[in-house]
Formats: sequence, C-alpha cells, structure tokens
Amino acid sequence: MPKTIQRDEELDFKPLDEIIEGAKAEGLGLIPILQRAQEHYGYLPKPLLEAIADRLSLSYSHVFGVATFYAQFHLTPRGRHLIQQCDGTACHVRGAARIRRSIQEKLGIKPGETTEDLKMTYEIVYCLGSCGLSPVAMIDGKVVGRLTPEKMIRMIDMLE
Ligand code: FES
Repeated sequence: MPKTIQRDEELDFKPLDEIIEGAKAEGLGLIPILQRAQEHYGYLPKPLLEAIADRLSLSYSHVFGVATFYAQFHLTPRGRHLIQQCDGTACHVRGAARIRRSIQEKLGIKPGETTEDLKMTYEIVYCLGSCGLSPVAMIDGKVVGRLTPEKMIRMIDMLE
C-alpha cells in the first residue's frame, strides 16, 4: 500500500521523475515504471499517465492502453482496505447476492468502487479457491468464510 494517496489536484511529479530516472538507469521500460508509480502514488490517474507518456516520448494512448490492459493497474484511487467478495458458482448458490447487498448498503458503493473517504475498495471476484467455506470474501488478503450478511457487517466494522 502507498504511504499516502494523493488526489489528482495535489500530485507531486518529483517522485515520478525519480522513478523514471531510476528505471532508465536500470534499463527498465514502461511496465516497471507504471508498477513503481502505482506503488508510490497508490493509483495511476490521468495526469500521471500523461506525465509518463511525456517523459518517455510515448503517446498517451499507448501508455493508457498498457495501463488499462493489465488488471494490476488501477486508474482510480484505492481504499486502505480491500474487500474482494466471491461470486463464483459455489458462493453464488450459497447466498453471495445477500452478502453483496449487505456490503453495498453498509458502504454505499457498488463493486469496483471505493468509498469517498478512501477507506474501502469493494470488488467482486470469481472463486477464491475456498469453495468449501462458501460464501467467501477476502478482506485485505485474508479469506473469511461461511459468511452471513451480519458476519460481513461485523467484519467491516472491525476495520480501522
Ligand atoms: S466459488 Fe467462491 S470460493 Fe470458490
């Protein structure tokens, strides 16, 4: 996770220049630069992609294309906590929809969105490999199984 998440309007490009300089010295290309930039800034907003394109003498559409092609890159801010709720077959038949509704109501966001205070990002995934515990979610990398809407809300309430 990045130390601080900067909003578009407060982006400081100095760290980006250092990242690009370092990557060039190591002979690295666009993808490692995008990875390091995301590690530092938390996500890859448009002004950052424009600055990367500019500094590497690439077209913005090329840089944007690469950043959107790989699932590892995020073009919008991410929350401090990540809830990945499973809607694979086993979880689906065991009530994933009820869990989904409880998360959406609790956080006021839909899958793929982040809360305004940048506390939570909510995503739907398809099979976490723990079907025996369905319905399942992964919260900050830890699998939580046999979920009920009440248990899910309790788990969210426990996050700082
Ligand atoms: S379908 Fe949800 S863990 Fe496999």
